Amino acid sequence: MCGIFAYMNYRVPRTRKEIFETLIRGLQRLEYRGYDSAGVAIDGNNNEVKERHIQLVKKRGNVKALDEELYKQDSMDLKVEFETHFGIAHTRWATHGVPNAVNSHPQRSDKGNEFVVIHNGIITNYKDLRKFLESKGYEFESETDTETIAKLIKYVFDNRETEDITFSTLVERVIQQLEGAFALVFKSIHYPGEAVATRRGSPLLIGVRSKYKLSTEQIPVLYRTRNIGNVKNICTTRMTRLDSSACLHAVGDKAVEFFFASDASAIIEHTNRVIFLEDDDIAAVADGKLSIHRVKRSASDDPSRAIQTLQMELQQIMKGNFSAFMQKEIFEQPESVFNTMRGRVNFETNTVLLGGLKDHLKEIRRCRRLIVIGCGTSYHAAVATRQVLEELTELPVMVELASDFLDRNTPVFRDDVCFFISQSGETADTLLALRYCKDRRALTVGITNTVGSSISRETDCGVHINAGPEIGVASTKAYTSQFISLVMFGLMMSEDRISLQDRRREIIHGLRSLPELIKEVLLLDEKIHDLALELYTQRSLLVMGRGYNYATCLEGALKIKEITYMHSEGILAGELKHGPLALIDKQMPIIMVIMKDPCFAKCQNALQQVTARQGRPIILCSKDDTESSKFAYKVIALPPTVDCLQGVLSVVPLQLLSFHLAVLRGYDVDFPRNLAKSVTVE
Ligand code: F6R
Repeated sequence: MCGIFAYMNYRVPRTRKEIFETLIRGLQRLEYRGYDSAGVAIDGNNNEVKERHIQLVKKRGNVKALDEELYKQDSMDLKVEFETHFGIAHTRWATHGVPNAVNSHPQRSDKGNEFVVIHNGIITNYKDLRKFLESKGYEFESETDTETIAKLIKYVFDNRETEDITFSTLVERVIQQLEGAFALVFKSIHYPGEAVATRRGSPLLIGVRSKYKLSTEQIPVLYRTRNIGNVKNICTTRMTRLDSSACLHAVGDKAVEFFFASDASAIIEHTNRVIFLEDDDIAAVADGKLSIHRVKRSASDDPSRAIQTLQMELQQIMKGNFSAFMQKEIFEQPESVFNTMRGRVNFETNTVLLGGLKDHLKEIRRCRRLIVIGCGTSYHAAVATRQVLEELTELPVMVELASDFLDRNTPVFRDDVCFFISQSGETADTLLALRYCKDRRALTVGITNTVGSSISRETDCGVHINAGPEIGVASTKAYTSQFISLVMFGLMMSEDRISLQDRRREIIHGLRSLPELIKEVLLLDEKIHDLALELYTQRSLLVMGRGYNYATCLEGALKIKEITYMHSEGILAGELKHGPLALIDKQMPIIMVIMKDPCFAKCQNALQQVTARQGRPIILCSKDDTESSKFAYKVIALPPTVDCLQGVLSVVPLQLLSFHLAVLRGYDVDFPRNLAKSVTVE
């Protein structure tokens, strides 16, 4: 659960200051992935390539703290120029060991920093490896699983059978011993000006920039066949040579820069030409040439890795005029929701076409049931759309939290269709659930926001929600776009159902006006800010509703707890009298979501029960509802839309409220404590 960034300038002279700036900027873009400590490894002052030593600078705290620390290093001349240099950098979210400088990355092989490594993921067999290495005399200094990797590569190097073993061969031998998930980038004094990167289960991509033409658009993947050695015979496996013509380099004087990162947001300002690595790919740069090899066949079995052109604009990932990414993303929703539907919903013919699903539609229609799986906000999107999916698909729909689904060893059959909802496309629990369902031969469908992510690559088919990059840790625009993607799926499934035509028309008509209605809800921002002023000193906040709007309560409460650190609970109004009613008095703040839908009368009952206990409900209701507002302590009136789409509108005031509460309570909205944007550990 960390961010990796590394930068190689090959025959492109850069001062140390410029290298620092590039590394720090890369880390800042990835800070949403974790921010309890950070570090870099760069070349020391000696500019003689053969005698370089590696300098590590690590600091507890965020990337800004590391940046300040870098400039305090007296021993480092900022003006010294490197014609070729490789620097690696890391921002951490602690999994093994408390956040401090020793536990932060890069981790090193020894006090001489012969090998250093940055890692995102978790090594599950690190205890065994550590025991083995300790028995061989290697001394550990940190509590991390990553240090095992740094020590292991030194062990392989120390026990090499030939002097000219390549850096990538060392890494290949190391990863054969690793279990768990990783994206790794290595640097070594034994291989100056070289880089090796690899991944399994955690994302990693490489950007390439050169003013010269690149030698190829497709990098052929070289396969090696060998026996996997266990820890004890790790050094006895045979080394084979790579074919040096199968690589990417700049034609001309070969000046080229490579950027390695956990995601594209850290690369896009330098280049839009990127290569996505597959699990178990080993990418090595030596003499300015990038080659990729692997031992096992890849999941896709693609014999090459294409250089892709990213369409993302830098300004898309910048904050613009907003004070926080989360705020920007809330206000982007009229546009992001539109982008989710663009080219897919035809408002003239009342049809929906999801290109990524069309070839599987027959199979989906024949299935026994739909299982919709996700975590956190993505799970809430499944809860929010369950009813309309049941209605439009006429199939049983199960919604599942990925972790619980796995804990229960839920029975899955080959005639099930399993949906995996994930903004990042990298969430470990969801990814494991996907692999579990694939093993049972179910058809798998990904609903993600991240092109090239593990979930989008490993599913049989899917839908990209096209919400644009979401940087704020608290998910907002991804939720509304996931919601709409699932509704669009239901509409596509019901196209030939005569009995559902009126309903489909109503929903499609509702979809068309959603962007404008979200704009209208966003105009309530000031009013919601005033409400936050009243509430921000409270310790708890309940959010209650039912039916189509229950998910809004769960999602609103999640937003409130994760960024304001207030206790907040989403309560199903039907359950009020079975327990939660005991919490109600005139002090306890309670928000009630009451919309003009089939649950309206039942929500009125809940409202009566609350006011009878002197509760003072803040009511989110439709602006044409005069009945509920009579009993409200405060009213937030929303434009009405079709019942099953109302949740897209009702969640927005709660997103805004959580944002204002967090700001008033003095918290960093984009980087809530203890959380990270992409949860790549179980
Ligand atoms: C809450 C939040 C998390 C994520 C969850 C799943 O604001 O962001 O609850 O929704 O970690 O993440 P994805 O959607 O990337 O799989």
